[in-house]
Amino acid sequence: MIQHAADIVREADVFVITAGAGMGVDSGLPDFRGDHGFWKAYPAYARLGYTFVDCANPQHFSADPTLGWGFYGHRTNLYRDTVPHEGFHIIRKWLERKGAQYFVVTSNVDGQFQKAGYAEDRIEEVHGSIHWLQCQTPCSARIWDNDEIIPIDENSMRARYPLPRCPDCGEVSRPNILMFGDWSWLPDRTRIQGHAFERFLSAHADRRIAVIEMGAGNAIPTIRATSERIGWNHEHATVIRINPREPEIQAPHISLACGALEGLQAIDALL
Ligand SMILES: NC(=O)c1ccc[n+]([C@@H]2O[C@H](COP(=O)([O-])OP(=O)(O)OC[C@H]3O[C@@H](n4cnc5c(N)ncnc54)[C@H](O)[C@@H]3O)[C@@H](O)[C@H]2O)c1
Ligand SMILES: [Zn+2]
Repeated sequence: MIQHAADIVREADVFVITAGAGMGVDSGLPDFRGDHGFWKAYPAYARLGYTFVDCANPQHFSADPTLGWGFYGHRTNLYRDTVPHEGFHIIRKWLERKGAQYFVVTSNVDGQFQKAGYAEDRIEEVHGSIHWLQCQTPCSARIWDNDEIIPIDENSMRARYPLPRCPDCGEVSRPNILMFGDWSWLPDRTRIQGHAFERFLSAHADRRIAVIEMGAGNAIPTIRATSERIGWNHEHATVIRINPREPEIQAPHISLACGALEGLQAIDALL
């Protein structure tokens, strides 16, 4: 399997890199893998009995904003402090060595691909980004950089005042992230990224495409569906799915049952 994956990487003209929460695990970030995974990452929410779905709810920013910003402020700080693992650089090395075109599609909101040096205009963040804010109302379609300092009381998982606010109307702001039951997310940034990705795919439709999927689970299957769509619709595309617990994919696509870093290192060793 690893040899086959290395052959696909060696022969590819174009790369699509798709990633879910598991891509961050080797950088030390938690994935959420059901309530138990979430509570292991956030024991305070286990005590409070809140699930990921309860926490990722836009209503908190109006009804209980220190709770809303507790979750997202903690994650902002965590993702700012994280150093992307070596796997991000291994793929970049392949791209640079081959001079290959690429696009990244991720459901992660953590900005780790940008941090690892991937170009902003080669990334689609399908659920938005924690590094951008919007008004909770929203009073306009404007989004802006998240340069807020957000101290958190880690016992209660509540943010301390003053909370981030909309510069236009003064309401508490929120991250420009698609949450659960979310009718106020401003999707324009993701839409523009998505159009760029579709143009990329049409421009390279006949080339040999290697889709490298890492850490994308079945719970919210957007990323897996994206990889599979490319794999089945493009004659010369092959998906390499790297996932320690949910690696299954139909041949001729390739399934590697290991972590992202381990899988990338194993492929790299054969190149
Ligand atoms: N860093 C982030 O931005 C972040 C973190 C958690 C969740 N989320 C988002 O929340 C949603 C649900 O989260 P979820 O945790 O159920 O995500 P998910 O469905 O992407 O599941 C995580 C997947 O990663 C796999 N995995 C675990 N360790 C791995 C490793 N070392 N290498 C590669 N894969 C590994 C697991 O087997 C699982 O399939 C997703 O949209 C996700 O992108 C984002
Ligand atoms: Zn506003």
